[in-house]
Amino acid sequence: MVLFRSVSALSKLRSRVVRQPSLNSTVRWLQIQTSSDLDLQSQLRELIPEQQERLKKLKTEHGKVQLGNITVDMVLGGMRGMTGLLWETSLLDADEGIRFRGLSIPECQKVLPTAKPEGEPLPEGLLWLLLTGKVPSKDQVDALSKELRDRATVPDHVYRAIDALPITAHPMTQFSTGVMALQVQSEFQKAYEKGIHKSKYWEPTYEDSMNLISRLPLVASYIYRRIYKDGNVIPVDNALDYGANFSHMLGFDDPKMHELMRLYVTIHTDHEGGNVSAHTGHLVASALSDPYLSFAAALNGLAGPLHGLANQEVLLWIKSVVDECGENVSTEQLKEYVWKTLKSGKVVPGYGHGVLRQTDPRYTCQREFALKHLPDDPLFQLVSKLYEVVPPILTELGKVKNPWPNVDAHSGVLLNHFGLTEARYYTVLFGVSRAIGICSQLVWDRALGLPLERPKSVTMEWLENFCKKANA
Ligand SMILES: CC(C)(COP(=O)(O)OP(=O)(O)OC[C@H]1O[C@@H](n2cnc3c(N)ncnc32)[C@H](O)[C@@H]1OP(=O)(O)O)[C@@H](O)C(=O)NCCC(=O)NCCS
Repeated sequence: MVLFRSVSALSKLRSRVVRQPSLNSTVRWLQIQTSSDLDLQSQLRELIPEQQERLKKLKTEHGKVQLGNITVDMVLGGMRGMTGLLWETSLLDADEGIRFRGLSIPECQKVLPTAKPEGEPLPEGLLWLLLTGKVPSKDQVDALSKELRDRATVPDHVYRAIDALPITAHPMTQFSTGVMALQVQSEFQKAYEKGIHKSKYWEPTYEDSMNLISRLPLVASYIYRRIYKDGNVIPVDNALDYGANFSHMLGFDDPKMHELMRLYVTIHTDHEGGNVSAHTGHLVASALSDPYLSFAAALNGLAGPLHGLANQEVLLWIKSVVDECGENVSTEQLKEYVWKTLKSGKVVPGYGHGVLRQTDPRYTCQREFALKHLPDDPLFQLVSKLYEVVPPILTELGKVKNPWPNVDAHSGVLLNHFGLTEARYYTVLFGVSRAIGICSQLVWDRALGLPLERPKSVTMEWLENFCKKANA
């Protein structure tokens, strides 16, 4: 017994000291595989007490440290630059872009397990990373793939709820309805009604989160097949991983499209906590609403054109360029079209960002995918031309803080290339992926016992009076 304990302690110790030598110092500790490590929930059970202690220490030792000043501009300007949320799973740097638990996208592409050599990361690996802060082994990811497949059962009433909507209803409306219909199976709600102790909240939250993540591709692909493929639904393939299965159920079995879907789902998962969908999910969950209720609310935020719907808007806009100017549009024509868009009081979709001040690395990795797999695609070439034309024009406008492309500027042309041409559906794909980030953080919200979110609001009169006094 003593020997067993010391072997297991040794393996835990080793798991914290092994590093991937080729990566820079920000890369998290890599762990060595042990058989018990295959279970994600038991890993969390081990991690939670140490993170609870860490939060307690932060509160008691540094609770009164100031993080900056709040200005009137910030209050009137959508809270830009105001640090006000705890979000463990990822952190966004204005110049570098997103890091998932400390790992940049290129680092994730290097260290996360793939389906094939030199391939794109498996989204299950990112889910593991977001939940635990550790890079999983291929065996762990395979076990998680299987667990997600085993959980992927959708009751019939969900499909009937979707079918009650007109087929013309926006795919995001159908998706959000489907998620609300899934909610009747919430384990958290059941446990809460039975009077579960708050220290155990994270457990049914974990169950709901994993069930929700596993079921979303079924609901999402049902909607796609319902609207665009005469309702011919394609069942799960038990031999496939999460991303490939999703692509398969949508009706796309080109191995390159499977790779694209793995990459797509991986990079859209999480973008720290302040963006509209993540923040909405977190806010709603802070009222102890279960993951289904919280995520449905998040989806409704994602459905806005300044947020997730921008991926739909980009492809429609690119196609409108082609309709008006043809595929071989000249740089001059493109400049004119961009100005025409701006002068008609619209934004150039896919450009700009609330936090980023450089090209989004999610754009860059999609561009690399295109250069590798579809360099001659005419719409990809148009996207490349836009990269040269749009930023100087937005800079010339003088008010745009970030003239560079974001994630949505690129995703549509990749999907379009492999036959997923229906732009109105694109935000649903984003939604499937975003569940992975929001739910991972939600498990930690519950584990850390984060409180009800309730910032203070004020009126214009209050601000005027406050400023008068401040300037007196
Ligand atoms: C993402 C976005 C909403 C960020 O908004 P923000 O933080 O307020 O951005 P800024 O501070 O740079 O905005 C300042 C001004 O520039 C404008 N602006 C920003 N991006 C622009 C764009 N792509 N095209 C035209 N104008 C833009 C804003 O509309 C705002 O104008 P206003 O003062 O007349 O209201 C904004 O860049 C945008 O609308 N982009 C296009 C939609 C999109 O791609 N969304 C997906 C984001 S991942």
